[in-house]
Amino acid sequence: MQALLCVIEGNTVNIQAILSEKISHALIAAGAPANSEAHVRQSAKVQFGDYQANGVMAAAKKVGMPPRQLAEKVVSLLDLQGIASKVEIAGPGFINIFLDKAWVAANIETALKDEKLGITPVTPQTIVIDYSAPNVAKQMHIGHIRSTIIGDAAARTLEFLGHKVIRANHVGDWGTQFGMLIAYLEKVQNEDASDMALADLEVFYREAKKTYDEDEEFAVRARNYVVKLQGGDEYCRTMWRKLVDITMSQNQETYDRLNVTLTQKDVMGESLYNDMLPGIVADLKQRGFAVESDGATVVYLDEYKNKEGEPMGVIIQKKDGGYLYTTTDIACAKYRHEVLHADRVLYYIDSRQHQHLMQAWTIVRKAGYIPESMSLEHHMFGMMLGKDGKPFKTRAGGTVRLSDLLDEAIERANALIREKNPDMPEDELKKIVNAVGIGAVKYADLSKSRTTDYVFDWDNMLAFEGNTAPYMQYAYTRVNSIFKRADIDENSLTQPVLLNEEREQALATRLLQFEETITTVAREGTPHVMCAYLYDLAGLFSGFYEHCPILNADSEAVRQSRLKLALLTAKTLKLGLDTLGIETVERM
Ligand code: ARG
Repeated sequence: MQALLCVIEGNTVNIQAILSEKISHALIAAGAPANSEAHVRQSAKVQFGDYQANGVMAAAKKVGMPPRQLAEKVVSLLDLQGIASKVEIAGPGFINIFLDKAWVAANIETALKDEKLGITPVTPQTIVIDYSAPNVAKQMHIGHIRSTIIGDAAARTLEFLGHKVIRANHVGDWGTQFGMLIAYLEKVQNEDASDMALADLEVFYREAKKTYDEDEEFAVRARNYVVKLQGGDEYCRTMWRKLVDITMSQNQETYDRLNVTLTQKDVMGESLYNDMLPGIVADLKQRGFAVESDGATVVYLDEYKNKEGEPMGVIIQKKDGGYLYTTTDIACAKYRHEVLHADRVLYYIDSRQHQHLMQAWTIVRKAGYIPESMSLEHHMFGMMLGKDGKPFKTRAGGTVRLSDLLDEAIERANALIREKNPDMPEDELKKIVNAVGIGAVKYADLSKSRTTDYVFDWDNMLAFEGNTAPYMQYAYTRVNSIFKRADIDENSLTQPVLLNEEREQALATRLLQFEETITTVAREGTPHVMCAYLYDLAGLFSGFYEHCPILNADSEAVRQSRLKLALLTAKTLKLGLDTLGIETVERM
């Protein structure tokens, strides 16, 4: 009955969610406390079935019942008619579930009919994703790469699921350094009359700083410009705008090269929140959350203790009247509620800024600037390390520029791909080189659990074996080539899916786990879960392909059924890679 229902609705299923719900229900009906959870996982071994529920033991302990006895009761109350062909109790009280092949086959058909592979529609939320966030008049560097790549995968994934995604590029476009930058821009313009000096932002910034440190007259002018800029002076505003625009158009080139979906309209820099800052400080003071201390305005947080064990003071306004990075992030969270109406805000910022965010959010929550239901999440990540285990640097010890890194990626992919395809037309070759080179850099980052540091290693990321972009891209072309070679139109596949062989069953079940995989990625912002899934899927396909002849199958019915499995594999790989922002090509 269930299988029939799913087909009629036109959606496949989140198997894990369905089983969790049904087993938790049975668990509670069997006498377990009302908040008991079934803890349903994909089984690690075939003999344990397709899924395993591990929640019985904990529940049994709570009610003082022998776990096996509770498990038996749960199974007797559990109705998995049509979904599971067998339910077994194992060990101290694990419940093993073996999916019904007909049910799996029916869901494969459903997935094939829909361009979104039949995933269940979500209740759309407004989700703000704070990512990339480079700084004005500075070259985007390696420190921004993880945020840009992982944040963009999250944006694509959530959008694909049907959420309203607002990309927020929290560009560092405000602060006291702008006096110096404006004064220096003025100086070079007087000397050269063009904006050439801004072509290399790294040099520009360095020279501006040097001049500021060495030339007292310049420094006075710079400090004067800060005050004028903050006061809205037109000349300073224009110069500032120029700095922002030139920086962001250079960054846009990088985004485009990276196949990252950010555009100029996603820029919501720090300056956007300027006007809110005085009001917030005044409000926090007036309501007694903030106090004066040595001329500065400070919020003391009991949640955070300093070395002496006293509440930690967070400065929100300096003695000279200047506001801080924290003040801006307080305003920014408030804005994301009041103006953007966010249900969730995901911050892709490196782990070193965790305390900063926690402080800002603690103040935001205390002051009640956002509703409790609004979720603020720091999806943090570790550092990018060189092969030596130290922070990734150029050979000379400098920061690696993102654009240089991408040049090198293309160069390396070029050598690799040309060697493999000496006779391919130039246009096509270029496309593949780009997809592989850029894909390799992105995938290397996406495929590692983001919370830890990761080692940047060209040889690993460009290998055609292992969990890499080239391997995945190649796996996709291989499945595709089956259809190309035999010139098959997918609409001609009218026979039902048959799952007689073990390898067909394993592949089919894994294909249906796309939905629970993407649901996890959406919830936790962990694209490596998608990478691991796709990698595993590609491996299962290889095994299937080797042992189950497709085009030379024994009968037309089996041939069509296997072609359908291959087709859904191709679609799943492509779609999965799409949600990660990894391009696919038709052959390579
Ligand atoms: N521009 C900052 C940096 O380069 C990152 C900003 C992150 N976003 C935020 N809402 N604080 O470190």
